[in-house]
Amino acid sequence: MIKVLFVCLGNICRSPMAEGHFARFVKDNNLQGMISCDSAGTSSYHIGELPDSRMRQTALKYGISLTSRARQLTKNDLNEFDYIIAMDSSNYQNILFLQEAAEGTKAQIFMMRTFDPEYKDSDVPDPYYGGDDGFDNVYNILKRSAANLLEFIRKEHNLT
Ligand code: 4NP
Repeated sequence: MIKVLFVCLGNICRSPMAEGHFARFVKDNNLQGMISCDSAGTSSYHIGELPDSRMRQTALKYGISLTSRARQLTKNDLNEFDYIIAMDSSNYQNILFLQEAAEGTKAQIFMMRTFDPEYKDSDVPDPYYGGDDGFDNVYNILKRSAANLLEFIRKEHNLT
């Protein structure tokens, strides 16, 4: 199984949405037996919580039900997962710090927006303190980026 982990700060907005959309997209491509995904946060702020209700509402609009519970990224994740995908540059730096402390990590670490064909900024913007349109914006960025991310994984693993 190829394992993908999406990471943001709180694991209640961006990374659960990334996980929810990517899981559906993988299924739509009949690759659910080959690729699995999960999400985590670099912080401990919201451990055990469901995704933010605004993110869940936005996801439902696109037919996706977000039911994950927030958890914090661990050193072990860096050996568990093949790909770790950071939502923003701060998350990315924190993952790299953890990687330095871990031994023999197998994960390849990327920023989500390196896969965005309409790349404007390196970060998937944090919608937590903003208005409702921020959540739609996050969904759209994640949807565009997920398509190229899956293409990238397919090529690396020769999946047709
Ligand atoms: P996320 O959003 O990293 O996309 O889950 C946030 C959630 C909570 C906080 C910040 C960002 N917070 O400061 O509690």
